[in-house]
Amino acid sequence: MKNLEGKNILIGVTGGIAAYKVVEVASRLKKLGANVKVVMTRAATEFVSPRTFQEITKNAVYVEMFGDAANFNVAHISLANFADLVLIAPATANFLAKAANGIADDLLTTTILAATAPKIFAPSMNTNMLENPATQENLKILQERGIKILDAAEGELACGISGKGRLPEPEKICEEIVKFFETEKILSGKKILVTAGGTLEPIDPVRYIGNRSSGKMGFEIAKSAKNLGAEVILIAGNVQLAPPKNLKFVKVESAEEMREKVLAEYDSVDAVIMSAAVADYRVKNISPQKIKKSEENLTLELVKNPDILKELGSLKKNQILIGFAAETENLLEYARKKLDEKNLDFIVANNVTVEGAGFGVDTNVASIIKRNGEVKNFPLMSKSDLAEKILSELIKIFGE
Ligand code: PMT
Repeated sequence: MKNLEGKNILIGVTGGIAAYKVVEVASRLKKLGANVKVVMTRAATEFVSPRTFQEITKNAVYVEMFGDAANFNVAHISLANFADLVLIAPATANFLAKAANGIADDLLTTTILAATAPKIFAPSMNTNMLENPATQENLKILQERGIKILDAAEGELACGISGKGRLPEPEKICEEIVKFFETEKILSGKKILVTAGGTLEPIDPVRYIGNRSSGKMGFEIAKSAKNLGAEVILIAGNVQLAPPKNLKFVKVESAEEMREKVLAEYDSVDAVIMSAAVADYRVKNISPQKIKKSEENLTLELVKNPDILKELGSLKKNQILIGFAAETENLLEYARKKLDEKNLDFIVANNVTVEGAGFGVDTNVASIIKRNGEVKNFPLMSKSDLAEKILSELIKIFGE
């Protein structure tokens, strides 16, 4: 079966030794039915001849920004408009740095700047270059802008050392592309409410009780759901992150305020994903004035906050409910209890004491526990990858 019939894919090839592998990528995409065009940097032509790509794709290959003046047709704009998807493989450190900074000094970088199509970058380079903070920062910037970055593979590199930096195998790159088109806009028509960040419970006008949630997990879920075509409402507590674009963003402070905003949207949504760290208690009597430092000891009386997710569970009609469990011990046992008590469809359990998991970091280690008892354990991965795993479970439930 040809999965990519009717799809226009633009491949950008930059100057790395792995450029030769991209010939096979182009060939596989062509066999899957895609219409493939290739733009090469000059450096890339040192590794593979444009003619090779031309023969494989049966399309002209583009290298020069200013070619034949008589046939000038603003190539970077027409190539950018052609693409349903842009793949950059191999993506060198130099290319990533230019793309992250909006530099447009050749045909490929200019085309990338003009292209609004989704983009997948496959970095490939020497391990030290990949791990260099400059490259890592550039990758982070690009990822935050919605570009899918394929993990470089490990193995022997052209420079003779062994490590991370190899271009993923052509088969793997093509699988990612097929997956992209299969899941593209799969959530369109669905309305999803995501909560993120910690709530902030006031003590007096200047002080509060809070927690370590940065909102990163919830923001990644909201962005992924948006990329998959959903209408997204993101209700965020105490976060310092910039609101993602093209979704309804509601900022709240306390658990009670979050409850009010969540309940106001609940009837109209198809799913709720509660990744917010809602405070279980709040101060009973909030002081209207700043509390003075007079006594040796200060006692604050705390009262229980509403359990938002439990309430959603009891009011549930057709909504899919997904909760999180932040635990420090007995992860699966405690998470299962929350799954039942809150009437959830599944729960994402994270042991927040594990390195690289939980609060504040860009990564997480989690397990998804479903109603039927099935458990899926995920290794350390970026919060954006975990967001995709969570949404693919949600998509399965929508499909049932
Ligand atoms: O924001 P980050 O820095 O990226 O960190 C991510 C995270 C660690 C906050 C996230 O992965 C996570 O675990 N979120 C849930 C935190 C939490 O409050 O867990 P809990 O086990 O206390 O609560 C269970 C569930 O009930 C959660 O879905 C929570 O949103 C919800 N809840 C809890 C208490 C309450 N009063 N009302 C609720 O709705």
